[in-house]
Amino acid sequence: MKTAVVIVAAGRGERSGGMPGGTPKQYRLLAGKPVLGHAIDAFAASMAVDGIKVVIRQEDQELFRDLTSVSGRKVLPPAIGGPTRQASVMAGLVALEPAKPEHVLIHDAARPFITGDVIGRVIDGLQQAEAVLPAVRVSDTLKRAERGIVTASVNREGLWAAQTPQGFHFDRILAAHRAAADARRDDFTDDTQLIEWAGGEVSIVEGSAGNVKLTSGDDFALAEGRAGRAGADIRSGTGFDVHAFCPGDHVWLCGVRVPHGMALAGHSDADVGLHALTDALLGAIGDGDIGAHFPPSDPRWKGAASHLFLADAAERLRRRGGRILNVDVTLICEAPKIGPHRDAMRARVAEILGIPPERVGVKATTTEGLGFTGRREGIAATAIASVAMP
Ligand code: CTP
Ligand code: MG
Repeated sequence: MKTAVVIVAAGRGERSGGMPGGTPKQYRLLAGKPVLGHAIDAFAASMAVDGIKVVIRQEDQELFRDLTSVSGRKVLPPAIGGPTRQASVMAGLVALEPAKPEHVLIHDAARPFITGDVIGRVIDGLQQAEAVLPAVRVSDTLKRAERGIVTASVNREGLWAAQTPQGFHFDRILAAHRAAADARRDDFTDDTQLIEWAGGEVSIVEGSAGNVKLTSGDDFALAEGRAGRAGADIRSGTGFDVHAFCPGDHVWLCGVRVPHGMALAGHSDADVGLHALTDALLGAIGDGDIGAHFPPSDPRWKGAASHLFLADAAERLRRRGGRILNVDVTLICEAPKIGPHRDAMRARVAEILGIPPERVGVKATTTEGLGFTGRREGIAATAIASVAMP
């Protein structure tokens, strides 16, 4: 495994005040989705993330199961946390050890507004740095006070507020955690602090002002407003495509090679399902269509694998800060039979888009022998995509 993520969610959320029904803050709903779900989805959507280990409390196992029943296969079985954040991180790292990740990102479940940009900067930073800390410059004037009386003004020059996810070389951070545990130190409140303690160097990358940690009850009220606004701009787009049969022995449909007595003719691999889906995504963000971005006249796209087109559309969406809610494709043909390949197609599309397979539909229909598809002259596909824009 190249890059793993540990999300610590084993706290009690005491400072956020009495949760209704005693539910800890990481399971509280924000715009209809648990706080922890927001964090998991952000990492699951990153192409560079291979596996996500969430650290939970023993008594939250059922809450966690409900939450992740819709989260894709990057989410690994959870680890059980300890009495401090530091102990919980260590439990997550130990659970990941057999998978031998090269890099690990460690994130607080209580930061649901983490974006792909910050995740990308931390992962990129690990090419050069020993440890990477996303942080923002402190902009408020800082005061030290005792019993409500100011005792000093603190110069904010050179001061940064630390965020998560913090990035590490896996072996290095696990060794630092083990050394701290051996030294009976349990007072580290973030993980780059352990690297500093072990004599290592921590590099800062720009965090984001929105990447706040939900701590108090007030934080939740503000967050609900933000998340509500973020979730309000839901858009959809549709796509349609047709390719004719030609001599051959297989077709590409939704990224899967399906043996068949014919092939599909086209400039690229003629994957009619992925083409319709690419247009649906481009339609949802109003960014032209597949032919505009990948002209058939361009020799570069001759025989191209169509997942490139779909990944490009998904990337255009993400660059605008958008998120795919779900996609759905219908393949229209008399043959080949799609049913036996449906799950493989859903998994492949999910992988290309970086979303859970539960958010991908693949269906098929014949046209009862009518029309060009009925005469087995070719295959048609329609698709729809729903996306949320910031
Ligand atoms: N955390 C953890 N295990 C602990 C304590 C904290 O996994 N024993 C996690 C929390 O779930 C949270 C993150 O560490 O995602 C940051 O901790 P904090 O914001 O302090 O959360 P809580 O400890 O839950 O809140 P509080 O301190 O108010 O009780
Ligand atoms: Mg705490």
